[in-house]
Amino acid sequence: MPLDYTNEEVAVIRRAIAPPPPKPPELVIDGMRPSAGMPVPDHMLPFWKLSDLEMPLFLRLTTDPVVKTLSHYAFFPEVYSRLSSGQKVPNLGFSGRARGTVAVLTFEDRTIVIKPLQSQREDEIARIAGDIGVGPSQLETLPGYLTEEFVSGMFFTELPEERLTEDFLNEVGSEVGYMLRRLHQEGIYYNDVTFSDPMGRSHILVALNGRCRLIDFGISLNLDQHPNLGREEVHNFVRTLPMYRVFLGMAEDQNHVDRFLDEYAQKLAASEQSEITSRDLQFAEQGIKMAMLTMGEKIGEPVKRGFLNGYYG
Ligand SMILES: Nc1ncnc2c1ncn2[C@@H]1O[C@H](COP(=O)(O)OP(=O)(O)OP(=O)(O)O)[C@@H](O)[C@H]1O
Ligand SMILES: [Mg+2]
Repeated sequence: MPLDYTNEEVAVIRRAIAPPPPKPPELVIDGMRPSAGMPVPDHMLPFWKLSDLEMPLFLRLTTDPVVKTLSHYAFFPEVYSRLSSGQKVPNLGFSGRARGTVAVLTFEDRTIVIKPLQSQREDEIARIAGDIGVGPSQLETLPGYLTEEFVSGMFFTELPEERLTEDFLNEVGSEVGYMLRRLHQEGIYYNDVTFSDPMGRSHILVALNGRCRLIDFGISLNLDQHPNLGREEVHNFVRTLPMYRVFLGMAEDQNHVDRFLDEYAQKLAASEQSEITSRDLQFAEQGIKMAMLTMGEKIGEPVKRGFLNGYYG
């Protein structure tokens, strides 16, 4: 029987796959082989912690066709409950680079995204962003991962020429300005590309009606503890500074990097929150300039005008 587990078994499985499982050590992979010479199938690697104490369960998972298709994603609450209530096995696609594997699961009635957290507080930030309608709605998940609504639309930089009317661009600019304003009001610094990066990639999803949403809060900062920022938060702030790459190239050793982060932590502690969040505005301005290179000069003025209206109201 596919996906036929008791509640206890589901709990055991969930404990084993969350937080995102590190790759099993080679030694363990060898021990997991169903029989000598047979390789462990990839979809079973996330369950490796079961291969020792819970061997019978591990073996049942190995022969489960749903698990073969969905691997550990089958046991995420949003997925497991749909399958248990008889929905068809979703189509599974992958994306993601910086954070590791991002899974996109397409069910008949909705599409969801499951992705490992990129920073310790990303789940809190994503929850706030979802609640205020700036980011994807957050769904029930497992520790270490986000499960969220798939936002349909096109990335800003992929909008086709015929959509780029003054009104539409003005609307998009205004949406993005307003989203950043709302995030800043909630004490969230987005800290990432909005309109376009130098490679023409964008983090703004634009729906047909011009409504926009930001995805990926992986390096955003929740400033609610400011002036006390953790090491990871300071690192996330500096990693988007152009000078940080230059610094890393020249840094002598890890101590040098640590000293730099310590000094920067003090600098951030001494800054006003609004000084920190104002860098989002610089990202927006640079992103508009970058987008003008690929989308044409003419988009600059309406997007900027909209943005300022949206941000300053
Ligand atoms: N909620 C979502 N709705 C729609 N698409 C999403 C969503 N989350 C992620 N994606 C898609 O998956 C890609 C990767 O997700 P995300 O940006 O969170 O991870 P990443 O590791 O930073 O990847 P990348 O380096 O490609 O930006 C996004 O660029 C987008 O195409
Ligand atoms: Mg990203």
